[in-house]
Amino acid sequence: MNFIKEKIPYKKQLKLLYKLRYFKAILFPFNLTKMARIHKTDKFGFHFYTPHYQHHFKKFKFKRNNILEIGVGGYYKPYNGGNSLRMWKSYFPFSKIYSLDIHDKSFLEEYRIKIFRGSQVDFEFLETISKEMGDLDIIIDDGSHVNGHVIETFKYLFPKLIKGGVYVIEDTQTSYWPDYGGDSSNFDNKQTIYGFFKSLIDGLNNEEFIIDNYQKTYYDKYIISMHFYHNMIFIYKGNNDEKSNYIVNNQRPRE
Ligand SMILES: C[S@@+](CC[C@H](N)C(=O)[O-])C[C@H]1O[C@@H](n2cnc3c(N)ncnc32)[C@H](O)[C@@H]1O
Repeated sequence: MNFIKEKIPYKKQLKLLYKLRYFKAILFPFNLTKMARIHKTDKFGFHFYTPHYQHHFKKFKFKRNNILEIGVGGYYKPYNGGNSLRMWKSYFPFSKIYSLDIHDKSFLEEYRIKIFRGSQVDFEFLETISKEMGDLDIIIDDGSHVNGHVIETFKYLFPKLIKGGVYVIEDTQTSYWPDYGGDSSNFDNKQTIYGFFKSLIDGLNNEEFIIDNYQKTYYDKYIISMHFYHNMIFIYKGNNDEKSNYIVNNQRPRE
């Protein structure tokens, strides 16, 4: 082992290690938790996200998806991070995995993994990379976890998601943490992650509202379901146009 460490340059060692993990992980093609352990991402063990991901993502497994994960990992260390990107590459054999980070993570790019450098709240940057990525099937926000960032990024990127796509937000516990712009005294504060996303729930039933001249919002029209778990949220996009059995144009018909 020491011989390898001495003879092979560090960067090459890392690339070899990632390749080895890739081949190991594809031996367990339907077990995302096992893949998370092999690729050493904290999406299982430190967090417990992979069972939820597998439940929601299994129908995408063999499709040619465009997947964007915000946050490569490893922060300022250029050679660290990318564990979850390599896990997604193993789990989705035909998908392209895109990611972005405020730090330069270009060393971690590989076949089917493309990484951009920029902030999740730099909308000019997001617009530029959106053109390169094309329509997205899955978006995962595992970036700064700052409440304002999570909400603004969602507002900007949700329209870039295809109908039938899923938007996921991780580490939503920051909704309660003031140092991330969260609030533990008012759970309905719309500047917080939960305050904001809870406020969208009623929109699922907008056809049932009794409101004169009600104008549907973008979210009313295109959010078809939301799934809340411990510290993570899944938001499904589609046409939310199922009609009410009772209400017509947001009014009760006269008897
Ligand atoms: C929790 S780590 C990502 C972990 C990785 N997704 C995984 O599961 O292995 C968060 C990453 O987001 C990056 N980040 C922080 N603020 C950001 C911002 N405003 N825009 C983009 N990336 C940011 C950090 O540099 C860090 O690498």
